[in-house]
Amino acid sequence: MEKIIDESLQGSALALGKKNSNSKKLYIESYGCQMNFSDSEIVASILANEGFDTTQNLIEADLVLVNTCSIREKAELTVRKRLEKFNAIKRDRPHMKVGVLGCMAERLKHQFLEEEKIVDMVVGPDAYKDLPNLIQEIDEGRNAVNVILSKDETYGDIAPVRLNTNGVTAYVSITRGCDNMCTFCVVPFTRGRERSRDPQSIIDEVNDLWNKGFKEITLLGQNVDSYLWYGGGLKKDFSKATDMEKATAVNFSQLLERTALAQPKMRIRFSTSNPQDMTLDVIHTMAKYKNICNAIHLPVQSGSNRILKEMNRLHTREEYFELIDNARKILPDCSISQDMIIGFPTETEEDHKDTMSLMEYVKYDFGYMFTYSERPGTMAERKMEDDVPEETKKRRLSEVIALQRQHCQERTQRHLGKVQEILIESTSKKSDQHFMGRNSQNTVAVFPRENYKVGDFVMVRMDECTSATLIGEAVGYSENN
Ligand code: SAH
Ligand code: F3S
Repeated sequence: MEKIIDESLQGSALALGKKNSNSKKLYIESYGCQMNFSDSEIVASILANEGFDTTQNLIEADLVLVNTCSIREKAELTVRKRLEKFNAIKRDRPHMKVGVLGCMAERLKHQFLEEEKIVDMVVGPDAYKDLPNLIQEIDEGRNAVNVILSKDETYGDIAPVRLNTNGVTAYVSITRGCDNMCTFCVVPFTRGRERSRDPQSIIDEVNDLWNKGFKEITLLGQNVDSYLWYGGGLKKDFSKATDMEKATAVNFSQLLERTALAQPKMRIRFSTSNPQDMTLDVIHTMAKYKNICNAIHLPVQSGSNRILKEMNRLHTREEYFELIDNARKILPDCSISQDMIIGFPTETEEDHKDTMSLMEYVKYDFGYMFTYSERPGTMAERKMEDDVPEETKKRRLSEVIALQRQHCQERTQRHLGKVQEILIESTSKKSDQHFMGRNSQNTVAVFPRENYKVGDFVMVRMDECTSATLIGEAVGYSENN
């Protein structure tokens, strides 16, 4: 579950390096998408200047922050349980403060602060720069809240401190918010309108990451293909830009190209692509630069034209196939992955069959599949009844997962017998005698460590595989090393 919600990371606490002058301890826990994990690095960086070092030990914390997700009800329930736990600890450590960050902030601020009184501070995704003031407020005994959504990219000038995981791969945010208004989705409400970040600050961050030893970056946004820089401001206001601003605007394929050229040895990925906005330009740019990985995460949500329309996904099944056909023509080796929602209101057996047949057509390398979860405030919640019975949703989900598993196995097998470049990310979870890394298509490979080290690019011969993992042996360094 690497792409959208990495299950193994849910609730993990971020630990950064120590600053000698800092005396207070911050415990920060993150849930949900990569954007949240990336934002937590920004928050930790802001608070490092306010006297906080991070800790992974909850009971020694002076400030506990939980970066929350609203995408499905289950994500919110998990956070609620954690808040109960924090409050139990607080009984013995009354000076400890608890704050909620991220997507649940806007939705539940009153409930958390005034009705349930289970947090001291509520901070929305665009208000982290205000954290020093808010912390002062709570230190003086008041509740603090800032959930104002911004019109600007907000954090482009902050250097996130990234000492969290492997030192090899990192996320770089390029847009915030989303304008798409898919009817099931809460993101446009919790994260606001779409705006892009200055390309120069993105390139500076990528260069800085390379200098620190990172070897792979993922450009991050809810809808990366919609990236558009014209000097700042909301995407929707582009039509009001001056002729000069329009003439010098930078779109996603241009940004991708600039990034690839800035660091020709850095591996570059991006996520998420939306079928309605992905252009062939982007695929041609991918083909042109060796360091852009051959992987496209292209959520489709449903294979039924009727459901796609109800979801306000602005493409048909046929247009999606055309995009896939073109992608495969230009990049035959490319992996394609999906997100799917099962049991959207009014979904019939016929619609479900359309989803299965779409999957048969594409044969996705990976997939992330969820049953529909009604989210308060969305168009679907207001206009449609959540009418597919839970058992039907579950049965259809298990059929979709079984089919995806089969395709995943087939797609993994296509790498067998080949020698592919792997970027070593870490020791394998299952054996400390093996390393794990990924090929360009994002498939995980494990192989004996020999004398290689984390961060090396190595050529690995793929001998065997499980449904999603390649098992091989290194045959030497890659020329990229
Ligand atoms: N911007 C991304 C999606 C962000 S949300 C895109 O365009 O695909 C990540 C995934 O969560 C979505 O692709 C969708 O499959 C799932 N999701 C979003 N809202 C959901 C809901 N209400 N119920 C179930 N799954 C949902
Ligand atoms: Fe959500 Fe659709 Fe945007 S899934 S994040 S509204 S592209």
